[in-house]
Amino acid sequence: MVSVAILGAAGGIGQPLSLLMKLNTSVTKLNLYDIVNVPGVAADISHVATNAQVKSYLGPKELDEAVSGIDLAIIPAGVPRKPGMTRDDLFKINAGIVKTLVEAIASNSPRAMIAIISNPVNSTVPIAAEVLKAKGVFNPKRLFGVTTLDVVRASRFVRDIRSDIDATTLRVPVVGGHSGNTIVPLLSMASTPLEFDIKTIEELTQRIQFGGDEVVKAKDGAGSATLSMAYAGARFADSLIRAMSGETVVEPTFIALAADVEGANQIRELGAGELDFFAVPVELGKEGVRRIVPLPAESITEFERKAIAVASDALAVNISTGVSFAK
Ligand code: APR
Repeated sequence: MVSVAILGAAGGIGQPLSLLMKLNTSVTKLNLYDIVNVPGVAADISHVATNAQVKSYLGPKELDEAVSGIDLAIIPAGVPRKPGMTRDDLFKINAGIVKTLVEAIASNSPRAMIAIISNPVNSTVPIAAEVLKAKGVFNPKRLFGVTTLDVVRASRFVRDIRSDIDATTLRVPVVGGHSGNTIVPLLSMASTPLEFDIKTIEELTQRIQFGGDEVVKAKDGAGSATLSMAYAGARFADSLIRAMSGETVVEPTFIALAADVEGANQIRELGAGELDFFAVPVELGKEGVRRIVPLPAESITEFERKAIAVASDALAVNISTGVSFAK
């Protein structure tokens, strides 16, 4: 019995994500919002034989209604990355879009969980936090940057070089942020011991950090990852919905390291230092983040520790860019 709004539902990510959420049998209401093309997308998806009621909302005049009475908002709205653009180049356009959408959610469904896909996540999540704070409704346990694609890529890329590994069950903790060298896969803490040599670890880390570029290049001007991102976004949303109904579920996500988030101190000691946001594996429950999953500091390698230091420096800049924009 969950009401979900997808904002940016007519886009390359939004369409397959909307379809995947229509297939989630716990979803009873699915509000699809975009500034173009959404009536057709909604009509099309509405015929899929699940119980979710699909409704279309087109343009800013219908935004408030789209986000009223919702439990979860997923935001893939924005402009995709073109060749030669970094995720950070997208910042100015997407920052404004996310700000507007989160303001509407804060006004109409202040307790909704918010999952942000719009890049650069390292900055758009801090923007959302500032908007929610300004409206007096910020709860760090209910705001998420979707980093699931990084752990999805980590599992799949390991499988590319180790055919004995099951990509569907392997879990590699990925910490830091969601852009280039802010992404730090902790291969030493994989759910199955991998025991790679240092050269393999370096190559694999590089591939996970810049995996998005493989898609941008192959799409040759047509955009960035959409189908794998929709899969990852739906996996995160499905976990959140299961958690809302009482299950305990572990997923990676980019969250605020707020004082009342259990486990935040351990992540600071691991290398997050004074940063206000970090990607971590999180245990989700009814109210959102229940606690950060402890990562054993003693098993972290020197390579990983250095990578976290590099990530943290870059992340500090991304976060403050977001906060300054919002202010
Ligand atoms: N409100 C709602 N939707 C918007 C707005 C807005 N103000 N501005 C743009 N959109 C919609 C577009 O109309 C489009 O349907 O967002 C959708 C974006 O879709 P695409 O252009 O196909 O982009 P996509 O590849 O889906 O990527 C979207 O996700 O991963 C990130 O970097 C990516 O930030 C980008 C976003």
